Formats: sequence, C-alpha cells, structure tokens
Amino acid sequence: MNHITGDTSVAEIVKVCPGARRIFDEHGLKGCGGDHGPSEPLEFFAAVHQANLDELLREINTEMANPTAQAYVYKETLQDYIYRRFFKAGVAIVLTVGCLWGAINLLQIGLGKSFLQLRLLSSIHAHAHAMIFGWVGMFVMGFAYQSFPRFKNTTLWRPELANLSFYLLGTGIVAGMLADMLLPALASFVLGAVSGLFEITAVVIFMLVLYRTARQSIEPHNPYEKFIASSFVWFLLGTILEAVFFFAKATAHSEHGLIMRIALVDGPLRDIQLLGFAALIIAGVSQRFVPHVYGLGKSVHNRQTLIFWLINGSLVLNIISYVLLLTTHNFYFAIGLELAYLLMPLWAVLLAVQIGVFRRPTQPDRTFKFVRASYVWLMIACGVMPFFPLYGALTHQVFVHTYMGSHRHAFTVGFISMMILGVSSRVVPILAGIDAKQMNSLWAPFVLFNVGCAGRVLLQVLTDFVPNVAYPLIGFTGFIELTALLWWGIELWRTMNVAKTGRTKLLTAPFPLPAR
Ligand code: HEM
Repeated sequence: MNHITGDTSVAEIVKVCPGARRIFDEHGLKGCGGDHGPSEPLEFFAAVHQANLDELLREINTEMANPTAQAYVYKETLQDYIYRRFFKAGVAIVLTVGCLWGAINLLQIGLGKSFLQLRLLSSIHAHAHAMIFGWVGMFVMGFAYQSFPRFKNTTLWRPELANLSFYLLGTGIVAGMLADMLLPALASFVLGAVSGLFEITAVVIFMLVLYRTARQSIEPHNPYEKFIASSFVWFLLGTILEAVFFFAKATAHSEHGLIMRIALVDGPLRDIQLLGFAALIIAGVSQRFVPHVYGLGKSVHNRQTLIFWLINGSLVLNIISYVLLLTTHNFYFAIGLELAYLLMPLWAVLLAVQIGVFRRPTQPDRTFKFVRASYVWLMIACGVMPFFPLYGALTHQVFVHTYMGSHRHAFTVGFISMMILGVSSRVVPILAGIDAKQMNSLWAPFVLFNVGCAGRVLLQVLTDFVPNVAYPLIGFTGFIELTALLWWGIELWRTMNVAKTGRTKLLTAPFPLPAR
C-alpha cells in the first residue's frame, strides 16, 4: 500500500506500518482492536478520538517513509481488558437474576392478578438490586474504565484498584440479594451490612480512579463531563440510600410500618438511581460518543447547560416535593411534584435534539436503531409523567402503582437497557478488532425487545381497565424480553471471547464456542 487515505482501516495501516501504532496510541487507541488494531477507517478513528485527520495522515505518511528503528511490541494489559469482566458479569446477571427472575415475578403477578402482592416484595427488590448494580452498574463501570482514559487521552489510574472495585461490587450484589431474600433472619442483617459496605466502597473507588485518571490528562474539560460527574454523585447517593432502604425495611415493626417506609424511600431511591445516575451517564456519554460514532453532525443550538440543569433540577424538585407531600399532605407540594414531572419530557426532547438522534447518520451501523429507539422510549417514559396525577384522579387512586410501573419499565428496559444493548454491540467489536459490517444485523433481538417492552408497558396500564385480558397476557412479555437479551448476550459474549483469543474470523467461529 503506497497511499493511505481517510478510508483506509486502522488495521491495514498497522499491518503495513507497525510503527503507526505509536501515533495511534498518542491519540488514545491504546489496546483497542487487540494486536491488529480496529477494522474501522482512519476517518472514523479521527472523528471518535477528536484528532485532526490531515495531521494524522501526515504523521503516518512520515512514519511510513522513515520508519522508527525501534520495533513496536503490542502487549495487552489489565486496563485494556478490564471492561470484559464487567460486561460479562452484566450479561450473566441480566440473563439470570435480572430478566429471568423479573419474568418469573411478572408471571406470578399475572397468575395472582395483582401487582401488590406482599409475598413478592423481597424477590422484586432483589431483582431491582441486581439490575441497578449488576446490569447498569457493571456496564457503566466497565465502559467508563475502558473509554474514559481514551476520551481524555491518558491511561487508567491504578487499574488494580479498578479491578478491586469489580470484586467488591460483585460480592455486594450477591450479599444484597441474599439479604433481601432471607429477611427477617438475623443473617440478613449481616449480609445487608456487607452489601452496603462493599457496594459503597466499590463506587468510591470507581469515582476515585476516574477522578485521578482525569487529573492525569492535559486535555481541556469538555461540557459533557459535568453530566458524567453529577451522574457519579447520584450513583454514590443511590448506593448509600439502597443500604438505608434495606435497614428501614428490616427494622419495620409491622406490615403497616413496612409499607409506609417503602412508600417514603422507594420512590426517591429509584428516581436517584434511574433519573440521576443512569439518565445522566447516558446523557453524558451520548454527547461524547453518539454524534461522532454515527456521524450525526453538530446540533445547531448548543443547550448542554440548560439540559444539565433541567435533569438535575427536576430530579431534586421531584424528590423534595414527593417527600414533603407524603409527610405533610400539603397540596402545594403536589404542585412542585407536577412541575418536576412537566420538566421531564422537556429535557428528554431537548437531549434527543442535542444529540441529533433523528438526523440521518453518515456512518450507519446495525446498532444505530437501538440508540434511536432508546431515545424514543425515553420520550415516552418521560412524556407520560405529567399525566400521572390526572390518571390517579380519573381512576380514583392516590398513588397509581400500575401507571408508575409502566413508566419505570419504559425507562429501565426501553431507554436504559436498549442503550446498553446498542452501545455495547457497537463498542465490543471495535475493541475486538472485528469488522461489525460482517456481523449479524441484530434485527431479531431488536424487534423482540421492543415488542416485549411495549407489551409490558401497555398491559400494565390495561390491568386497571381489563384485568381479565391484561393479567394473563402480561406474564409472556418478560420471556419475550429474555429471549431478546439471550440472543444479544450470546453474540456479545462470543465477540468478547474472540477479542481474548486474538483475531479469528467471527463468522466461522464454532457456535456455541467450546468452553475453555
Ligand atoms: C428485562 C426484563 C425485566 C422484567 C421482566 C422485569 C420485571 C419486573 C417486575 C415484575 C417488577 C415489579 C413491577 C411492579 O411492581 O410494578 C419490576 C420492578 C423493578 N424493576 Fe424490573 N424487570 C425487567 C428489567 C429491569 C431492568 C433492566 C431494570 C433496571 C435497569 C429493572 C429495575 C426494576 C426496578 C427499579 C423495579 C422497582 C422495584 C421497586 O419497586 O422498588 N428491571 N421488574
């Protein structure tokens, strides 16, 4: 190859000019793509790493003309592959104690024809614990440890501490689930304390590692970073409150006391974890990642700061109004709550517009449909919230559990999980050095996931009107979602294994891969 252009893949360049790897490393490639480098074109690399394409071309052509004498030796280190253990743990958790258990719970709800069955409370809370920390937490931490140093053009600070946070988080999740299931046994108190301590330590280590990594970087601060920083603050708060929630339940003296405590803590806790931690990290990463990776261009108006304050402001207003309304029954706080709900669709729409998810991508990819659908689900989930009080008034209920459950599922599965599916399926092949164009289109899991989610969201509300039709059907929706996750999860796992074993042709690899 005599001439390199923006269309030449990074892998081809590294093949003919191994010394170019040093140049790529300086722009943040590091271990991406394994020893061969990613199959993405140079132009894509420059866009994602925010490097100047012409300068890159000039540097590579100089290296080709006068190769550096010292040979480049590629060696994979912990910071290059740490993401794999987080992602694999996330896949394993979502397929077992996450979605499978959730689906079993839903089937029991369908059979018992009620969402308010006290006997299911422990397993629903254990499922929620596993999903927040083991699904969202594992993917967010794995992604951040892998990509944040590359976004900031530096190396991960103390990778062994990052590794420790993995084991602390994993142990904390198992202990927390057991604690919920064993209540009111004495052992559950010990497990609850272990869970809280381990998870809080894991999150503190995670924040410290990323903070010190950012401080090593000489890159200027970027507006998207404030979304990520505030997301981590909510993550820590949500982790502390999760432990408080457990002990509030464990020490309740009566069934009425238990229900009152759940009513007080559960709403703010889930809002902190979902609208604070998850929404802000997705908003931050989307702004840094989505427009560049899919070629969506720049938005005409930059409303990053407004969106940032709307997300955080509506969440704070929501929590304060909710707690004060519940404790004082003062009508004024209902107005504050409604205002917080009204702000939710506003920030959702502004965020989607800011990222440009409805513009035509110039770098189309099989995963873009997940990202776009995720934002559609975000707008649906946030769009229904202003009508929550009205729905309660029309159906003569003070707090409509079914309506809130529908909103939550649209948010957790439609928005958060859809985004995890899309982003992981975009990133992992790049890290494994596999050309994603040769891979499965993922249409089947995409359709199944949307059908399952839409079915659940609609049927949960319909249980208020046609319970005899909606309850028998709702039990199936969890298993439709599980099938979709299984399909996606097997592909992602295989791709990560290919990354581990060096470049092999993914499409000719045996399926399932033999156990090693
Ligand atoms: C993928 C299929 C899933 C199924 C079948 C499922 C099933 C369920 C069921 C049956 C409930 C109780 C619903 C209610 O009382 O209204 C529930 C609650 C919950 N789920 Fe899931 N879920 C799934 C995914 C997720 C995901 C991906 C997350 C997090 C990202 C999540 C987090 C939660 C939370 C936070 C609650 C509320 C728990 C509480 O009341 O405190 N779920 N889920």
